[in-house]
Amino acid sequence: MKRTLGVCYYPEHWPETQWAEDAARMKDTGLTWVRIGEFAWSRMEPKPGRLDLGWLDRAIETLGYAGLKVVLGTPTATPPRWMVDRHPDMLAVDEQGRVRKFGSRRHYCFSHKGYREESRRISRILAERYGRNPHVAAWQTDNEYACHDTVLSYSTAARHGFQDWLAQRYQSTDALNRAWGNVFWSMEYDDWSQIDLPNLTVTEPNHPHQLAFRRYSSDMVVEFNRIQTDEIRKHSDAPIAHNYMGRVTDFDHFKVGADLDIASWDSYPIGFLSDRLEVTNDFKLRFLKQGHPDNQAFHHDLYRAVGAARNGPGPHAGRWWVMEQQPGPVNWAPWNPAPLPGMARLWAWEAFAHGAECVSYFRWRQAPFAQEQMHAGLLRPDSQPAPALAEAAQVARELQSQPDVSDVQSPVALIFDYESAWAWDVQPQGRDFDFFRLAFSAYRALRRAGLSVDILPPDTASLAGYKLVMAPGLMTLSPALRSALENCKGVALIGPRTDTKTQELSIPVPLGPNIAGLDVTVTLAESLPPIAYVPLEAGGRFVSWFEHLEGEGPVTKRTTDRKPAIMGTGPLRYLAGWPDDDTYYQIVRDLCRDAGLTALDLPDGLRIRDTGTHRFVFNYASEPQQWNGKSIPGAGVHWEPLP
Ligand code: GAL
Repeated sequence: MKRTLGVCYYPEHWPETQWAEDAARMKDTGLTWVRIGEFAWSRMEPKPGRLDLGWLDRAIETLGYAGLKVVLGTPTATPPRWMVDRHPDMLAVDEQGRVRKFGSRRHYCFSHKGYREESRRISRILAERYGRNPHVAAWQTDNEYACHDTVLSYSTAARHGFQDWLAQRYQSTDALNRAWGNVFWSMEYDDWSQIDLPNLTVTEPNHPHQLAFRRYSSDMVVEFNRIQTDEIRKHSDAPIAHNYMGRVTDFDHFKVGADLDIASWDSYPIGFLSDRLEVTNDFKLRFLKQGHPDNQAFHHDLYRAVGAARNGPGPHAGRWWVMEQQPGPVNWAPWNPAPLPGMARLWAWEAFAHGAECVSYFRWRQAPFAQEQMHAGLLRPDSQPAPALAEAAQVARELQSQPDVSDVQSPVALIFDYESAWAWDVQPQGRDFDFFRLAFSAYRALRRAGLSVDILPPDTASLAGYKLVMAPGLMTLSPALRSALENCKGVALIGPRTDTKTQELSIPVPLGPNIAGLDVTVTLAESLPPIAYVPLEAGGRFVSWFEHLEGEGPVTKRTTDRKPAIMGTGPLRYLAGWPDDDTYYQIVRDLCRDAGLTALDLPDGLRIRDTGTHRFVFNYASEPQQWNGKSIPGAGVHWEPLP
């Protein structure tokens, strides 16, 4: 497969006289794709029903004429001002009950029926007009669902929608009362209209009530997206993508992905390190201008799985892209350093090594106006090259001359489940318990061991071919995954906090986990503040979380006070706590020995990824590091054929 580069472009930000020159320069840089349109509603339809698409016709023509392929975005992330006058109650409402105002973006509520129809209408208009346009080679729905905390809306539309959704799911209020345990604190209902959204209660709302609202809200994103894909597919055969974000678990990406041809995500490594990852100050300083060496890879592997949600079985059937790649300083993190020279190239190659079809830089030219005027592009606001332009051109040349990156099943699987993320959000039990954080800590241990990983969805039905499987923090197991684990031929490490709840977030009796072949029961769970930990025999520690285990499964690791830390010696084993980074790595190393895998102990800046034919080595450190007798420059990439 041919891997390509692209860029995000906003023709509506620049005089029309500049478009042809921009397009020619994009082509000269070696770019293939240009994404446009996703925020341009006020220009596409300046007044309700008064369309002005002539400029968009000409922009697409100009870009296409230069030899570029267009990704056309639906503009629904930015409903124009007149839309709010037309539907004053379409605005999202925050948890405190405050209406979110017009004046930036993503101000709509997913449940609002009127806005959904507007979204259908503009999608249809664009699909009818451009569905057979030879230059429109892909579509993007909306922009970054969930960005700016916009999945949960406590609006009247959401309340009514939620009540209908509950009636369908539970059929009777009696059934709902039983499922939620509403006898507790006299919370029983006898009419759907009595059930409010779970905010502004005196103390915490009932957990299953909150979980139901999270499920409902996720379904609203799925439905909203499907309205657009249905319209587009009536008129176009081009693939449809959405650009997801990093570390967002507010909706089920696998379910949205089932309606899309391409999963893509927006990768801002330096912004994410500064803004949304828990790391020490020393670590932040070490990777300040490079980003977290495992965070991009984690999301690449996750979105490869999300891409596979539509395109059939197997982790590699799916298509996925990086739709937005950081090129220089961003504007939105608390602090915004510039990348080290070499990083705009390294990030792109890392995405290709994980299977990305396309890496598209955000954005072509830095805008001298509005909210993102301090956000770098490939060009400066005066159209001179910004530092990333030359690196993008270098990657484009390398893509021509290097062998293709072939996909292959990895030896290791990690299960990722959005519902579990919601469950532990609403019932963390310890303030810092977080599903993403737990899954990411397991992933980091695997990466330190030099292992390539496939992330798999919670309904995975077969683990064939995987030598090692990690399943931390899964609220419950789907029947498919339960049976896949029971039949697993490799080594599977389950837990902590896996299969210890029902679908309704209650405690199952018999207590979990209930997996045939694993004689372990969690009898009690403790959470620990950051100042405390559970020391393990022979070194290492659990932090944040520790479960007391009973059962016949032989104990292979213990705490210093002789409680089980890991139980099981066969294919299935249970991990009783949340290991700190070094301990997780030691555990992975021991599992690798049993699973017939080699664990490398890579230094923190050096990471590898194996494709079908090549081993890629990425040096996130600023200084050179040794690999296999070679010196890999700081912020450098190296690849070699696999033996
Ligand atoms: C993304 C978004 C873009 C732009 C970019 C800036 O989250 O999709 O529109 O805002 O961030 O880094």
